[in-house]
Amino acid sequence: MAEFVRTGVEGRIGLIALDNPPVNAAGAALRAGLVAALDRLAADPAVEVIALYGEGRSFIAGADIREFGRPSAGPWLPEICNRLESCEKPVVAVLHGAALGGGLEVAIAAHARVAVAGVTLGFPEVTLGILPGAGGTQRAPRLIGVAAALDLITTGRRIGAEEALALGLVDQVTQGDPRAVALAAAGQVLAGRLPTRRTGDIHITPDPEAIEKTAEALKHSQPHLFSPHRCVEAVATAALPLPEGLAEERRLFRLCMDSPQRAGLIHAFFAERAVAKIREATATPRPVGQIGVVGAGTMGSGIATACLLAGYPVVLVEKSPEALARGSAAIARNLDGAVSRGKLRPEARAALSLDTATAAAALSGCDLVIEAVFEDMSVKQAVLSEIELACPGALIATNTSYLDLNEMAQGLDAPENFLGLHFFSPAHVMRLVEVVVAAETQPEVVATGFALARRLGKIAVRAGVCDGFIGNRIMSAYRKAADLMALDGTPIAAIDAAVRGYGFAMGPFEMGDLAGLDIGWAARKRQAATRDPAARYHGALADRLCEAGWFGRKTGRGWYDHSGDGPVPNPEIPRLLREIQAAEGITPRPLDAPDIVARYETAMIMEAARVVEEGIALRPIDVDAVFLFGYGFPRWKGGPLHQADAIGAAEICARIERHALDNPRFWQVPDILRRMARAGGRFADLNRED
Ligand code: CAA
Repeated sequence: MAEFVRTGVEGRIGLIALDNPPVNAAGAALRAGLVAALDRLAADPAVEVIALYGEGRSFIAGADIREFGRPSAGPWLPEICNRLESCEKPVVAVLHGAALGGGLEVAIAAHARVAVAGVTLGFPEVTLGILPGAGGTQRAPRLIGVAAALDLITTGRRIGAEEALALGLVDQVTQGDPRAVALAAAGQVLAGRLPTRRTGDIHITPDPEAIEKTAEALKHSQPHLFSPHRCVEAVATAALPLPEGLAEERRLFRLCMDSPQRAGLIHAFFAERAVAKIREATATPRPVGQIGVVGAGTMGSGIATACLLAGYPVVLVEKSPEALARGSAAIARNLDGAVSRGKLRPEARAALSLDTATAAAALSGCDLVIEAVFEDMSVKQAVLSEIELACPGALIATNTSYLDLNEMAQGLDAPENFLGLHFFSPAHVMRLVEVVVAAETQPEVVATGFALARRLGKIAVRAGVCDGFIGNRIMSAYRKAADLMALDGTPIAAIDAAVRGYGFAMGPFEMGDLAGLDIGWAARKRQAATRDPAARYHGALADRLCEAGWFGRKTGRGWYDHSGDGPVPNPEIPRLLREIQAAEGITPRPLDAPDIVARYETAMIMEAARVVEEGIALRPIDVDAVFLFGYGFPRWKGGPLHQADAIGAAEICARIERHALDNPRFWQVPDILRRMARAGGRFADLNRED
């Protein structure tokens, strides 16, 4: 235990150093070590003041999240905070790196706090589906007031040292090495220049108005989530005597801990980090200085914006001068937006380097060129050859969303330098990038894709080559399920409402109208020759809308009519539907909300299972990350395959078999699910680190 927590005595000062790399998570060993250290120094007659600090990157980044939902050993953080607060000798905490969650709770149970500039403080528990359960909901309101505590605790917002000082969360901000700061702070306590007090003794001014206002606001802003509401209830009990408030906090904390949302949100936390653990991770990324982007449409200008925001010099190439001017204007608007939202300083904007050109020769100095031209194989192949000619040896990436990369690479002299970087629109906002690995893509090229994504502040997920890669392939399956439900007579507004009720921001038909129905129509026409004639054709209704020129919002009408104040279902749909149902012999069988979401979710899981089975995704958690960070999958549900585990493989198989009675071509049980159902397996078991 000594290795996690060390003590030292320097004159009248007792030092406690926490040392649990990489971030000083408060796991069982650190907790036990901390209590032992406190006891030791409290009993040492030479010690008059105790200073607590972290070695390495952080003070304490919070509880050890890996322990949640698993058996662990005491002492627990609430006891530690109480022990710390009741210590007879003054204890000062020195905060650097991260003082988050349980780490901040330890800090506010100490008798004074000194922040080292650059520290991040906050209560991110709510983002993990829980609440600060080690006295945070009781001590924070005493220290900084009910309204400020509610803000930090219900949003999980992270703040810096200066804001923490202004709020009264810390007593001083300073610079320096944490150990030296600890000694200096303890010296100040001894000299009476840094006052100390027990947070629990501070008189709390109740603020029922702030409680009510926050509770009301959360009802509207977080209708799906469980823990933000429990956070408010816990803070409301801070008006009680401390022991009673702490007991109530514990009760609410346990409710959160037992909620499936906690498991989903923690899965999402680890998914974000797991995706970088790929087999190519040991390869050294190639250095990337200048980046070229070919194609100045929505995707090209978004990608160029993302690269500029990350500080890369960018060359934007577009054959049509008009399109180039439009793309440059879009980039300028994006950058203006970044400045007005405070994401980019005006002087930094002025220093960004964007060159534009109409010929590929301008790409000669680029180390990486990303093409985002029209989604057509021969157009893409011609552009890739031009790029290779302009900058031989450079990495070349395609932003295609479904085309076959291996076919695309056929004309290249160096297919080993070629990969897919599939961005999501708007590319400078959306966090997901699928890094698509073709047959000849070299490991260091993959590693470069991941390094680039990291620098762009994005989450990269490795994907194999198939139609639609991970995300669009699975989306096309659940879109089909939605189309089939509509053909069977479930109103589109009911489907959209049910999908929103599941937690997506939009339903599939609302999304279709936003994106434009012409895109899907073009894809269906392209696929017409290879369509299975015996299978129910899901696109029949969408085709009729498109034939009428109704492409969604941009034409004023699509699935919905957008000409009035708010969208209303397109009034022509019932007539079109009756015609299709009569021609196809479909008896209408509208579904209710639970059946809608069950079908939608099952179609998603069915295709996701195939994507894992075929190795298109390395692990189930990669699929979950794609949906969490690129498709608006509700974070508290953890992702489609986390949900699959929650439902159970046997139940998923049973659902698919039931639906297959109506539509055996579409609903087919993937082998992997059948095996899991037989053996009682879970997708989580396949989330090994590759
Ligand atoms: N528990 C366990 N592991 C943690 C962790 C935690 N609290 N915080 C970070 N880690 C792990 C990460 O999973 C990662 O592990 P791998 O290298 O194996 O992937 C490693 O530490 C480094 O983390 P990052 O890659 O995120 O490093 P970073 O420098 O980018 O960020 C950080 C550091 C700001 C601390 C960030 O990791 C973070 O925000 N962590 C979560 C903090 C948090 O939510 N704390 C609250 C926990 S809940 C709680 O505390 C409640 C309670 O008391 C009961």
